[in-house]
Amino acid sequence: MKGLILSGGKGTRLRPLTYTSAKQLVPVANKPVLFYGIEAIAAAGIREIGIVVGDTQAEIRAAVGDGSRWGVKVVYIEQDAPRGLAHAVKISQPFIGADPFVMYLGDNLLSKGISQFVDEFARERPAAQILLTRVPDPQMFGVAELKDGQVVRLVEKPKEPIGDLALVGVYMFGPEIFESVNRIKPSFRNELEITDAIQDLIDRGLTVRPHIVEGWWKDTGKLEDMLEANRLILDLQERRIDGTVDAESRIEGKVVIEAGAVVERSVIRGPAIIGSGARIVHAYVGPFTSIGNDVEIQDSEIEHSIVLEGSCVRDLANRVIDSLIGKNVKIYRMPVKPSAYRFMLGDNSEVGIRW
Ligand code: DAU
Repeated sequence: MKGLILSGGKGTRLRPLTYTSAKQLVPVANKPVLFYGIEAIAAAGIREIGIVVGDTQAEIRAAVGDGSRWGVKVVYIEQDAPRGLAHAVKISQPFIGADPFVMYLGDNLLSKGISQFVDEFARERPAAQILLTRVPDPQMFGVAELKDGQVVRLVEKPKEPIGDLALVGVYMFGPEIFESVNRIKPSFRNELEITDAIQDLIDRGLTVRPHIVEGWWKDTGKLEDMLEANRLILDLQERRIDGTVDAESRIEGKVVIEAGAVVERSVIRGPAIIGSGARIVHAYVGPFTSIGNDVEIQDSEIEHSIVLEGSCVRDLANRVIDSLIGKNVKIYRMPVKPSAYRFMLGDNSEVGIRW
């Protein structure tokens, strides 16, 4: 069995971060989302993984390398443009060959991994197996309609409601899928949809097995989803203090402080993680916060936020909450008159000021 991770695409909903960075590399609890997918596939016993890459391929190749860190062999499959998930499958045929494979969307996170799902597929060997979960906003996903436990219809981003069982971004396929991806036509969003290719398997009379997801699942495409994924992952971590904490600081609950981080005269209330080289000085870091490597938080308060490496937050009068701050960003107070806001923000940045 092989693994296929989709890590191309545009990441428009996470701009401006994704202008300069692949969305699959945005970290959750200080680890790129994509790495959780690689770990899940490796844990299911799969040793060969193809990663479909697009414009951001240099960054993804640099972060993942040859896969030896996870005991797997990674090859890269170049997609010229994000032409759809079924298009990604189509161009991966030379890598997959006649093997069954698991396809994993590089921005998805599952709490329970995929081993059980992979084992079940290997045992039953249908043409495809899909993972489903109930969602409050099915129009944002591919949706499956079941009858007597069988999949009867699949619709991508349905405009008319057909139920609330969304397709989770992990799929299992046999080689039958290649004929289907070649038969379908581009959708309303001009993509070759995997949802349509799976519908085509059903239309050909082949078996598509549903599997309802256990535990939580997150598609990390949007800010709120990133923050929620961060919350869920941080909550699972064990307390570990490898950095330096002075006697005037208080570390409460499930907190990870990586080696090389320094905490002085501060309170850190977990679940939270502080990356190596970070400096937390006379500050408060509240629950559900991930502070990246080499970040500085000084004379400020922050909670329920993600701060990427190299950034600095200094001398702020109000607490920072619900925020996703990119790399090498500087936020600070200037003690000079007149009192005013002074911004230098990239395109599609968002600033919310609460009184
Ligand atoms: O997250 C689950 C949903 O993922 C499913 O419910 C939908 O049925 C499925 O179509 C997909 O919907 P999205 O609109 O969220 O897919 P997105 O465009 O975000 O792409 C998912 C991943 O695949 C992302 O990591 C980028 C990558 N990708 C996407 C396209 C369109 C590629 O590598 N190549 C592509 O051509």
